Amino acid sequence: MRLLAAVSAAILALCPLAAVAQKPAPKSAPSQVAQTPPMGWNSWNFFAGRVTDKDIRDAADQLVATGMKDAGYVYVNIDDTWEGDRDANGVLHSNSKFPDMKALADYVHSKGLKLGIYSSPGPLTCARYAASLDHEVQDAQLYASWGVDYLKYDLCSFREAVMTAKAPDDKAAQMKMMIAAYDKMNKALKSTGRPIVYSFCQYGWDAVWEWGPSVGANLWRTTGDIQANWNSIYTILNEQAGLAKYAGPGHWNDPDMLEVGNGQPAGSDRHIRYLTPAENRTHFSMWAMLAAPLLAGNDLPNMTPEVKAILTNKDVIAIDQDRLGREGTRAYSDGELDVWTRELSGGAKAIAVINAGSDRYSTHPFHLSLARLGLHGPQMGKNLWTGNEITLTDNMPLEIPSHDILLVRIAKPK
Ligand code: GLA
Repeated sequence: MRLLAAVSAAILALCPLAAVAQKPAPKSAPSQVAQTPPMGWNSWNFFAGRVTDKDIRDAADQLVATGMKDAGYVYVNIDDTWEGDRDANGVLHSNSKFPDMKALADYVHSKGLKLGIYSSPGPLTCARYAASLDHEVQDAQLYASWGVDYLKYDLCSFREAVMTAKAPDDKAAQMKMMIAAYDKMNKALKSTGRPIVYSFCQYGWDAVWEWGPSVGANLWRTTGDIQANWNSIYTILNEQAGLAKYAGPGHWNDPDMLEVGNGQPAGSDRHIRYLTPAENRTHFSMWAMLAAPLLAGNDLPNMTPEVKAILTNKDVIAIDQDRLGREGTRAYSDGELDVWTRELSGGAKAIAVINAGSDRYSTHPFHLSLARLGLHGPQMGKNLWTGNEITLTDNMPLEIPSHDILLVRIAKPK
C-alpha cells in the first residue's frame, strides 16, 4: 500500500533496456511533481457543466496573454462534464463538447502549459457522467496517451454505489474501500510512467491528510465545495487551522479552488454579490498563507484589470510558492480580527491580519501584538498589497476595512 513500492514497480516495468544495460537499473525516485503548490486554472467555478473545448483553449490563450503563465499558472484543468461513452472495448471517449482530446492537449502543451482532467472512482462523476470504476488502468493509460498532466479524482458516486452498497452499516469498512479506490488509481497512474499530479477530492473524509500521501496524493481537498461569497471563504479558512503540519513539498492541503473574480451580479435574486476587491485580496492572500494550490476559477477572457492585478501579485504568489513549503497557522484571534503567520525560507516571515467583521475595526483601531507573534521590537517589512515599506511596532493601531487584509513580509524578523 505504500507509495515507494508502487513507484519502483512502475519504473522497473518501464525499463526495456534493463537486460543490456551495464549500469544497475535506476532506483525509484520520489514523485517530483507538486514540489510547490500547483498553480493554474480550473473550469468548474465559472463554467461548471457548460465548459467546452473552446473555453479550455481560450483559458490557455488568456493565461499566456495576461501574464498569468509567467506568474506561475501552468495547469489548465478540465473539470467534470467532458466524459462521453465507453466503446465495446471499454475505452472512454470524450463527449461532443470535446471532439478531440489529444488535439486539445497538444494545443495546451504548445502554449507551454499543462493539461488537467477529472474523474471519479465510482461509476459516475458528481455531474453523473461516466467515471472510472473497474476501468482505472484503462483510463490512466488513456489520459497518458492524450498527454494529461494532472488528475482530480472526485469521490462522488463511489459513496452510494460501492461504500454504502457493500457495507451499509460499517463506516470503518467503507473508509477502507475509499482508501483502496484512491490507491488503485494511484497505481494505475504510476504504471503509465508519466508524471501526473494526483489531486484527491473527497471533501476531507476520514482525515485524508493523515493517509493521502501514502496512497499518492499530491493534494487533497480538506472541505466541501467553495462558493463565491465571503461566508464560504471565511468558513473554509477557519477549518484549515490545525492542518499545517500535514502539508509540505509534494503533498498539500487543498481548501478548494479560487473564487477570485467570481460571484453573482449585484442585486441578483440570490442576494449574493461579486466578491468585493477586499474579499478577493483576502481570499487570495490567505490561500497563499495556507500554501494552497492556486487554481484560478474565473472567466479569464472577461477578467477585469483589478482581478488580474490580484491574481498576478508576484509577492503574494511568492508566499504561496515559498520553497520551504511550510503552511501558515493562525497565531491568534481577537474578536473580529485574525492574525496568521507563515515561516518562509531564509528565516523570513509573513504576517496576515484580517478584519472579518463588518465595521468595528474599520473605524476603531485594532492593536497588533507583536509579542504574541514571538517578535521583539520594531519589524521592517513590505506591505504586499501597496508595495510600500512598513514598520510594525508592538501594539500599533491598525484600521483595516471590513473583509480586508494587511499582508506583510518581514525579511529578517527579530
Ligand atoms: C464536486 C467537486 C467540485 C466539482 C464538481 C463537479 O462537487 O467538489 O469541485 O468538481 O464535483 O461535478
